[in-house]
Amino acid sequence: MPKLIVVNRAGEETTVEADSGLTVMEVIRDNGFDELLALCGGCCSCATCHIHVDAAFADKMPEMSEDEDDLLDSSDHRNETSRLSCQIPFTDDLDGLKVTIAEED
Ligand code: FES
Repeated sequence: MPKLIVVNRAGEETTVEADSGLTVMEVIRDNGFDELLALCGGCCSCATCHIHVDAAFADKMPEMSEDEDDLLDSSDHRNETSRLSCQIPFTDDLDGLKVTIAEED
């Protein structure tokens, strides 16, 4: 099972294991991180699943859709590491991925 390292808004790191086939958002939500609201349930229309992806994994990220790009633009906390976690399938290839839950907008 691939491992995901989640950093919460207080800067605390937690490592969780996940079945592949879920998205990064689902893995975070299913492990009880209530800072990640994911209000739209993963249909790319709310931007409350905003995370920052560790630079070491930038090359492994799936390409960003125009919708994701537009939604991220609505966040005051967007930077070059920003992604919507519901748009990232958590595959074995991403084992060890570290993500930080973005500041609240
Ligand atoms: S959960 Fe709403 S955009 Fe990701």
